[in-house]
Formats: sequence, C-alpha cells, structure tokens
Amino acid sequence: MARIIAFSNQKGGVGKTTSCINIAAAIGMSGKKVLLLDYDPQGNATSGVGVDKRTVTHTIYDVLTRNVPLKSVIIKTKYENLWLIPSKTDLAAVEIELAGQFTPDSNPLSVLKEVKFDYDYILIDCPPSLGFLTLTALSIADGVVVPLQCEFYALEGLSQLLPSIRRVRQNYNPALQLVGILPTMYNGRLTLTRQVIEEIKRYYPSKLFKTPISRSVRLSEAPGFGMPIQVLEPRGRSAQEYNEAARELMERI
Ligand SMILES: Nc1ncnc2c1ncn2[C@@H]1O[C@H](COP(=O)(O)OP(=O)(O)O)[C@@H](O)[C@H]1O
Ligand SMILES: [Mg+2]
Repeated sequence: MARIIAFSNQKGGVGKTTSCINIAAAIGMSGKKVLLLDYDPQGNATSGVGVDKRTVTHTIYDVLTRNVPLKSVIIKTKYENLWLIPSKTDLAAVEIELAGQFTPDSNPLSVLKEVKFDYDYILIDCPPSLGFLTLTALSIADGVVVPLQCEFYALEGLSQLLPSIRRVRQNYNPALQLVGILPTMYNGRLTLTRQVIEEIKRYYPSKLFKTPISRSVRLSEAPGFGMPIQVLEPRGRSAQEYNEAARELMERI
C-alpha cells in the first residue's frame, strides 16, 4: 500500500517542487512505483516532469470539484515508474468552492485512497501556504518532508510550520509523521548555512536529513527541460544527493 508523503513549507522558493520531482524520480528509478500529485496551482511539478500544461484536459481540480474520476486524470510520464496527477491555475479556486466541506471525517483529498494499492509512494507537492490545500494534504498523508532553504528566516518558518503539523495531528490525522527536514540550496562555505544546520540539529536532532542538497545551477535549469536531474545529469552531484535523500526517505517511512 502506498505511503503518502507531503512536501510542505509555507514559504515559497525553498525547493519543495524541486525536491518532490527529483525524489520522485529517484524512487521510481529504484524500482518503486511513484505517483506525484502536483497540488500547487502554479503547476510547476507538472511542467517539471515534462508534461505540457496546455495539453492537459483534466487536473486534480476537476477530481475535487467536478467528480472526474481520479484514475482518468493520471498521466504516465516519460520517466521510469513515475506517474503524475497534474494541476494548473484553476486549482486556486478549490479553496473557495470546497470551503466548509472539510471536516475531520471528510477530506476531499481522501480520493487518493482509490489508488493506494497501485503505487508504492504518493508524493504531494504542496503550495507555499498553510491554507486549505496544505491542510487537506497533511490530513491524508502518512508523513511530511519539510524542504528548508538554509537562510536566516528558515528557522522562523519552521517555528510556524511545526505547530501547524502538530495541530493537524491533534485534530485530523494522529498518524502524521514528520519524516524529516531536508536542507536545500546548501552552501557549506557560508557560515550562515552552517549555523542554520547546527540549529536544526540542536532542536530537531533526529529529523535532519543526512545529505543536504547543494546549490546547483543545473538543478535550477532542469525544470526548463522538463527533466528530473537524474535524467539531465545522472552523474552530477545533485542527482547523487537527491538519490541519497530518496534512499533516506524510504528508510524513514
Ligand atoms: N539546490 C538548488 N540549487 C539552485 N537552485 C535551486 C535549488 N533548488 C531549487 N532551486 C531553484 O529555486 C527556485 C525555487 O525552487 P522550487 O523547488 O520551485 O521551490 P518551491 O516549490 O518551494 O517554491 C526554482 O527556480 C528552482 O529551480
Ligand atoms: Mg513549488
């Protein structure tokens, strides 16, 4: 049965989508079946795995609001063992359309359970907020991975996010596990970067992923090609780091 993992951080631009795509690709290449849910109206994960949003007719939005069957919107990507539930800008309206329909016993995203037996992992690329979409994702997930950019405000962000995770656990999903904090855009030569890592180690010793993801130009170019880094530059450092992160994620949950 699939483990459902949400990639969440209310800050934008911290590496959620990049981590979600490349960890999904790595898990797929390791022989496990992965379903990637693009759960951000920006649709970056959709284009990031080479799916042209203009050619997509139905998205997660239609599943949640128009009763379109989940299985009919799943797209097999070009990449090994990697499937996608696409998204585009209309997803932003879901919050208004479904407001009030979310209670501890009814979560529109429970629809994912229909395919739980078809995949080993379902990874959810959450939007940069702690609003309705993220709440529904965390409430259905087995675990959450927090990509964290190594900069000063990162810890402040964590001090908002972790209480929210705790609240979700208390009110909606007691089984929700904090899988780990994944440092991104790491630059070991910067004192600040090292300080942030030390702080996380101090406060959350068991939660830090062992291999941080280094800052890399190739990694930021990969979405432009619609390719995971393992395909664009399989022998490069970023691919190795994300393969490590994927391995660690699979060990942790
Ligand atoms: N390790 C990295 N090194 C360099 N650029 C990165 C790295 N990780 C992400 N980026 C770039 O930073 C920007 C934000 O990353 P993204 O994954 O889209 O963040 P989020 O999904 O949290 O908003 C993107 O342009 C992405 O290509
Ligand atoms: Mg994103």
